[in-house]
Amino acid sequence: MFSSSQHQALLADWQKQFNQALEQFLNQSKEPARLYGPIQYFMHLGGKRLRPLLCMASGHFCSQKAKEALPAALAIELFHNFSLVHDDIMDQAPLRRGQETVHIKFGLASGILSGDRMLVQAWQALEKAPNHAIPMLLHRFNTTAAEVCEGQQLDMDFEQRKSVSTPEYEHMIRLKTAVLLGFSLEAGALSGGAASQTAQALYRFGVDIGIAFQIKDDWLDAFGAIQEVGKQTGGDILARKKTWLWIKALECDQKAMLALDELADQERVQATLALFRKHALDQKALELAGHWKEKAMEALGEARLSKEGNDFFKAFADFLVDRNY
Ligand code: IPE
Ligand code: IPE
Ligand code: MG
Ligand code: MG
Ligand code: MG
Repeated sequence: MFSSSQHQALLADWQKQFNQALEQFLNQSKEPARLYGPIQYFMHLGGKRLRPLLCMASGHFCSQKAKEALPAALAIELFHNFSLVHDDIMDQAPLRRGQETVHIKFGLASGILSGDRMLVQAWQALEKAPNHAIPMLLHRFNTTAAEVCEGQQLDMDFEQRKSVSTPEYEHMIRLKTAVLLGFSLEAGALSGGAASQTAQALYRFGVDIGIAFQIKDDWLDAFGAIQEVGKQTGGDILARKKTWLWIKALECDQKAMLALDELADQERVQATLALFRKHALDQKALELAGHWKEKAMEALGEARLSKEGNDFFKAFADFLVDRNY
């Protein structure tokens, strides 16, 4: 993920601790197999584990306490995976992390119930957080989870709309995606007992890189390689998602964009991508993600971490914007 060997070593250590804690946690519940099988399947598909790593990194760089951040890291990854299982139902997505989505492999009812169970598992994981931090973690977890649901609803509402403004898009992705990255950092800081100013600055950093992250996710949905992304590409166009690419293309050439609506699915995807490219929106979206990353770096400065901490999070932010999966 990172080029510096020092950063690689830290990440490898947190990954190991996180994987051990996750295995131990998942091994507690096995029956009924048709409830826990889909959970095991999904949690073992991998994924980048960005949120737990951000959480543990935050615990480490705020107070040398990565281990104390483990319960929150677990809770956040379980919540994230719950949201993906249900998101794939809502987005009618066939592929996730290069494999079949839960509702395709196990059926719709399993997708709904195993997702619900994972949400409850997230709260159970939080029970093990350091006592001093539990009330605040619970409060902030619940606020964040509510916002994610609100963002997901706006995302679906926008599918039905003829147009959406860029501030509306930004508001929607802030809720559905960015606040959870922000909370991942905040939760690590809270678990380690960091000052609230530090936790809040890291939250702002996380939200801003989260916005850059979702802009890149939308970019990958349009221009990424399916083998690398592990998700069906072109899905956002098929589902009439109002991404920044789509919104800007409508601004550039409303007539051409509206004409695309008549086309059959695959033709519509190809013609929409061609219009995105014609107006250089592929390039411009990456510039926009870069702008949010710069903004994030200002918030990071306000957290007043060590140089080592700043360098680590700067490298993390670079990865989020430069990744191709
Ligand atoms: C995907 O998140 C969902 C979004 C918020 C865009 P990730 O890209 O972090 O998914 P995994 O966990 O690595 O599969
Ligand atoms: C997902 O956004 C946000 C949440 C799951 C809350 P997307 O729908 O763009 O995520 P992917 O592309 O399916 O991973
Ligand atoms: Mg979605
Ligand atoms: Mg989706
Ligand atoms: Mg997406």
